[in-house]
Amino acid sequence: MDVCERAKKIAAQLQKEAGMPRVGFILGSGWGDAAHLDGERAVAFSSLEGMPACTVAGHAGNFLFGKAGGNSAVISQGRLHLYEGHAAATAVLPVAVLYELGVRTVVLTNAAGGIDPAMQPSELMLLRDHINLTGQNPLVGRAGSQIFADMTQLYDAELRQTVASACRALSIPCREGVYIQVTGPSYETPAEIRAFRAMGADAVGMSTAIEAVFARYLGMRVAGISCITNMAAGVSDEKLDHADVLAQSKRNRRAIGALVRELVRVL
Ligand code: HPA
Repeated sequence: MDVCERAKKIAAQLQKEAGMPRVGFILGSGWGDAAHLDGERAVAFSSLEGMPACTVAGHAGNFLFGKAGGNSAVISQGRLHLYEGHAAATAVLPVAVLYELGVRTVVLTNAAGGIDPAMQPSELMLLRDHINLTGQNPLVGRAGSQIFADMTQLYDAELRQTVASACRALSIPCREGVYIQVTGPSYETPAEIRAFRAMGADAVGMSTAIEAVFARYLGMRVAGISCITNMAAGVSDEKLDHADVLAQSKRNRRAIGALVRELVRVL
């Protein structure tokens, strides 16, 4: 079944919890359980017909509904990754569900490895642009001329300003940069990271770019935020480990949780 049809059926099951969310989030590794909303209600992916389960540690696999500053939001706590075996057109299902719930501004978050040596673990990077190195595009196989979607200003400049000033207000260090999406699940080699740096990437991760493409295709305003959890392979001497990535995100819990609430309030 087409991902939009599938999303409609899932959204219909969520309608009684949903209210009218103005803004939606996809919260990645370590972000998901950091954010809490007023009067929150969680619906497990596993309780929804047609919704695949989340198989990755650090991804709860819930849609969370609630408010901050009086504004309604929906948070996807967890996402579907290519490396779990999902096709790109399936991996964007949470984005399509948010769209069907009425969300027109979406904030995509992830954990990422810092390629630019000036970056520090625990910093946030606001996505100015991305490089999709997965070789996959979620629009493949869809009909209609909208599939030739313009990506020249994929990450909304005004939203970026809003996120940057929210970070400033909360004293959260953040900078802008270019994110490169790979499929994973293995981490990169130092030679790959050197190549990505030469290509213009500042941070690397295993999600987000294909979701951003789909959100833009649907006509949503898109923001992307990476939490730099480690320096990418070869940038420091550290070995890479998913448990360390989650541990670093956990250290950022309070900042991340405060940022999500602030964004619900102001967006
Ligand atoms: N590489 C790819 N994905 C990641 C990394 C990394 O170094 N850190 C967190 N997600």
